[in-house]
Amino acid sequence: MIHQVNGIRLGCTDRGTGLPLVFLHAFPFNRTMWASQEPLSSRFRIITIDLRGHGESDAPAWRYSLDQYAADVQALLGLLGVSRAVFVGLSMGGYLEFALYRHCPDLILGLVFADTRAEADRPEQVKWRFDLAQRAAAVGPSAVIEDMLPKLLSPGAYQRRPDLVELVKSIQAAAPVQGIVGDLMAMAERPDSTDLLGSIAVPTLVIVGKDDVLTPPADAERIARGIPGARLVTIPDAGHMSNMEQPDQFNRALTEFAAGLSAASR
Ligand code: MLT
Repeated sequence: MIHQVNGIRLGCTDRGTGLPLVFLHAFPFNRTMWASQEPLSSRFRIITIDLRGHGESDAPAWRYSLDQYAADVQALLGLLGVSRAVFVGLSMGGYLEFALYRHCPDLILGLVFADTRAEADRPEQVKWRFDLAQRAAAVGPSAVIEDMLPKLLSPGAYQRRPDLVELVKSIQAAAPVQGIVGDLMAMAERPDSTDLLGSIAVPTLVIVGKDDVLTPPADAERIARGIPGARLVTIPDAGHMSNMEQPDQFNRALTEFAAGLSAASR
């Protein structure tokens, strides 16, 4: 389904009824990375969104920032008639959840931070993003694949799951250069959210793949320690894309969390 939002077209899928769970994808993915979570629509309202620059959404030449993505998500949910939801963000999707919490906390019933971190970029990370953006602008998404594909899954997946490696690669290969460059700039400029953690007053689940090398378990532990009452689930044999690599364990943790919220909101 395509909706006109903030002057551009945004792609999304909206299936099922009940408690809305809104899924926010990683860099430089799109909403298809949540295919293994779609079956949860038998129990919840599952909304997956292509952020600007990705999937079926337009990839305008500007503007890209976490605040802009938050404004897009807020406007889209308004069109879908969603007034409160549980947000599930993986990596960049988690950075976006912090922006949503700053801008529209009333929209948030609960938060799931998967394979992400609260800290802003360090100077060397900003430099890495700048260099990667230049390479992507010159040669396209292959620059990102070359840099990131070896870091997205657990070591075992590269040996035993060629299908998954190929799937991850094909989603990255489909990313428009505008979206890649826009995300890199947006992430480099995002503020530190560490100070926000203590003020987050909604139920929170933190999920991390035990073998995540991009946002390692220590990052997740700091989020879970900082948010009052947050629960941490570490998934074995999973790297950064924990929802794709171990969907059963990811979905189990998510279902348990969302079912608790569903019961509480009745
Ligand atoms: C992601 O998976 O969204 C990115 O790796 C996040 C980042 O580069 O910080």
